[in-house]
This record gives sequence, structure tokens and C-alpha cells, in this order.
Amino acid sequence: MTYILALDQGTSSSRSIVFDERGRIVAMAQQEFRQIYPQPGWVEHDPEEIWSTQLATARQALAKAGITARDVKAIGITNQRETTVVWNRRTGQPVHNAIVWQDRRAEPLCAQLREHGLEPQVRETTGLIIDAYFSGTKIRWILDHAPGAHIAAAQGELAFGTVDSWLLWKLTGGRVHATDVSNASRTMLFDVRHNRWDTGLLGALHVPESLLPHVYPSSHVFGESDADVLGAPIPIAGVAGDQQSALFGQACFKAGLAKNTYGTGCFMLMHAGGHFQTSANGLITTSAAQPTTTPEFALEGSVFIAGAVVQWLRDGLHAIKSSSEVQALAESVPDSGGVMFVPAFTGLGAPYWQPDARGTIVGLTRGSNAAHIARAALESIAYQSAALLQAMGRDLSAPRPAGTTGGAPGGAGAALEPPSARPGATIVLGGVTELRVDGGACVNNLLMQFQADLLGIPVVRPQVIETTALGAAYLAGLATGVWKNLDELSAQWQVERRFEPTLPRDRAEELMARWERAVRQAVAP
Ligand code: G3P
Repeated sequence: MTYILALDQGTSSSRSIVFDERGRIVAMAQQEFRQIYPQPGWVEHDPEEIWSTQLATARQALAKAGITARDVKAIGITNQRETTVVWNRRTGQPVHNAIVWQDRRAEPLCAQLREHGLEPQVRETTGLIIDAYFSGTKIRWILDHAPGAHIAAAQGELAFGTVDSWLLWKLTGGRVHATDVSNASRTMLFDVRHNRWDTGLLGALHVPESLLPHVYPSSHVFGESDADVLGAPIPIAGVAGDQQSALFGQACFKAGLAKNTYGTGCFMLMHAGGHFQTSANGLITTSAAQPTTTPEFALEGSVFIAGAVVQWLRDGLHAIKSSSEVQALAESVPDSGGVMFVPAFTGLGAPYWQPDARGTIVGLTRGSNAAHIARAALESIAYQSAALLQAMGRDLSAPRPAGTTGGAPGGAGAALEPPSARPGATIVLGGVTELRVDGGACVNNLLMQFQADLLGIPVVRPQVIETTALGAAYLAGLATGVWKNLDELSAQWQVERRFEPTLPRDRAEELMARWERAVRQAVAP
């Protein structure tokens, strides 16, 4: 039997999963690590702790599988994206804690870049908007604040990496400083159409090129782990950011295939093929995990509050004692009784981009009870996801040519009012024929059925819902001959359950229109 070890370095925990040659999970290990909050809005990780927990879980997973490093054909790495590490090339010491993707400290710098009119250049080159979320301004912040970093950087002594690069460096004892296109595309410094660092943006952010890792396709032999790390050298043959890795692990290899990960928030990605386009509907464009040197793209949007709304039912409203009770409570009523819940606790992301929106419950009557609110809370996850998929579908069916980008997220201000906001507007999915799902909340059958009903297309849950790690394993296995090609992977990827839509379309459209009315109330309460 051939095995692949996937290292899944996430925001709250490091996980390692051993897969066999049929893509089945053999063993898994997980360790949480510290979240460091130096000030409101700041989030850091200790890079050494990222490494030590990752290494410990890799060793545990091999032990649980009853195998040694010699049985492992390849390692695949997938990781929390954007999180920024800068270290000294000679000593291997980080010059600062990792600045996590959620950290907002670089916002003033982003405001300056916007004022200097850099938005269209960023949009056209990287597919992104200017935001503190991405790595570029985090690097700048570290260079400006870590003692001596400016001079050391100018002398070529420092290295920058997203978490994949940091792990590659540690696994290879400092021999490899590299990343893949999907991680590079999250830095705001990468030209996604030509797969190279962009000298114009590096100049605008004053980031020296000597800091940057080499960029390779996602499926590629990046190097071999040092023998003393896991007991024998293993080729590291796949690297991808976690959301792009999940898209790959869902076998979404072609334009129009989309996945949604239902976690604390939701990350929805749709493969957009080999043609770069910016979104007219409030989404970002990003590099998909790429098995070859040919650029491939994905459209991406996220829902800020998804599973977190269930936590609020538990911890804020005390309507349930544990999150697992939510389905039973929601199922105790036939529907939400007209209650709509917009959980805009931290504003609304794509496709609305309303940072000042706040959580809103509408449609309460004397007969409304906790079960209706629980049902509306669950349904809100599906409504937000449906709005995202509609935005993607509209982009897919009416691609915007390059060079026509406006300034706001999504380009034009008009995009903030999606067509579905008009009551009775048709739900356009632009040829998207199914939605593949993963993440913790995808086990909730009620939610998945409602998602299918709203969208009018099947919602497909795969057998392996650890698709993030599976994607990294697929990429590593492709580069080392475990699997021959994408067709073989598509054939191997197995469905556990398909949720077919059962709701009449006119009813679904009426519900979507009511949702959009509730969103407007959340924006202007
Ligand atoms: O862009 C951030 C994302 O990659 C983080 O994913 O699963 O670690 O929360 P996760």
C-alpha cells in the first residue's frame, strides 16, 4: 500500500492526515496552539509553535497508522492562507510573531494605498482588493516594526513566507524557500496571470524582492524533508492554500465547479478555468491550485458568520446547550414561521460589502419561539451562501473583460445591490450545476436540504469531508505518480449523499427576495 501524508496547518490547530492510494483516511492527529491577541484587532501566532505542533501531529499520525516515513510516498502541505512569517535566513529565527490573516493592523497602510489610487492596479494584477487581510501590507508592517528588519531585508538576510513556506523551510532544514501559486496569489504582490511576483506592487509596498520565495505549481516536488524530521527523507510534492486545496480535494477541476466549506464562516470557491476575469459582483479572483505551469483561476467569496451563528444561539441566546442540538430544535417546527435572521454581527462580506450592517431578526409574531429563531439562524447560512453562488454564477455567465475594473470591491458600486435584491428576480447560477460541500456544518442534513432547495441545484456531500487535506494529498500524489491524472482523481472522488432540490422555484425565489429585503433592513436598521 502507498501512503501520502497531508499536513493541514489551520488557524486554530495543526492537523496531519495519512491517506492511502485510494484517497481514504488511514489516521489523523490534531493539536491546537495559542492564539495571541496583543491588542484589539491584532492576532498573532508563534511560528515555532506552528512548527512544533505540526511536527508532533505528523509523527502521531504516522504512529497511529502503524507506518514509518519509509512507507510514505510524498508529503502534501495545505495551510491557513495570508498569515505572514518573516525570518532570518542564517539563523532560521522569526523576526516577529506570525501576523494572522484575521489581523487588521495594516488597515492604515491599506488606506494610504487606496488614496494613492492603487486599487485598479491591485485588482488587475492580483485579482484582489486592497485589504489588510492579504500578506503584502503585513510584510511591510513587520519590516517597519521589527528591530533592524529594514537593514537586514535590504542586505538580503531575511525571508518572507506564508505558512506553507515556513513549514517547507523547517522540513528541509532551511534548504528550500518556496511557495505555490495559490499561496502566492494571497499576498497582493503576485501577478496571477503570469505567475510571477509583480515588481510594480513590490515597489509600491517597498518590499525587496530578495525576501520572496520561489513560486512553483501546486503539484511539484519542492524538495525532500530532512531525514531526522520524520525518520527518513520524504518528497514534499504538493502545496496549496487551504481553500484552493479544498477546491482541488472536491475534484473541482473545471470552470463552473464550486465548493462551499461550512465552518465558523463559509468559504465558497468556484473554479473559473484558465481565463482571468475580475468580478462584477463583489467577489475576488484568486489562483486555483495548479497541477501544471498553466494559470488557472477561481472566484472566491466568504460568509463571515456561518457556524458562528449556532455558537451565538448557544452562548448568546442560551437557546441550546450544545451546537449539536440545533438541528433537532430547528426541526421541531416545519419552517421558520416567517422569521428571517441576518447574522451580520461583524458586517456583511461578499456580495454585499456592508461593514456597518448589524445582526437583525425580522418577521417575529406572537407565535414565534426559539425553534423558529434556531431554524432561521440555520437558514441564514444557506441564504448567505446562495447569494454568493448567485454572484459567482452571474460573473460566469457575463464575464467582464480585463481592464474594466472599477474601484469598489467587486469593481462597480452597482455591484453592492445584486440583482437578486429585486423581489422576484430570477436566481441566476450561470450554468453551475451542483454545489459540493465540506466543513463541520455540512453534516447538518436540514441545512444541506435547504441549501439545495434555495439554489435549485443538487448539493453534493463527498465521502471524505476532509477535503482540504485530501486536496494536498491529491497534489502530492499527482507529482509522484501515485495518481496519473485529474481524470483518475475525478473517478476516485466519491459522493456520500446528494441533496436534490424539492422546493418549487417560485417559492425559492420568493424566499430569496424576502432574504434580500431583510438584508436591506440589516444595512439600514
Ligand atoms: O484565508 C484564510 C483561510 O485560509 C483560513 O482558513 O480553515 O484555517 O480558518 P482556516
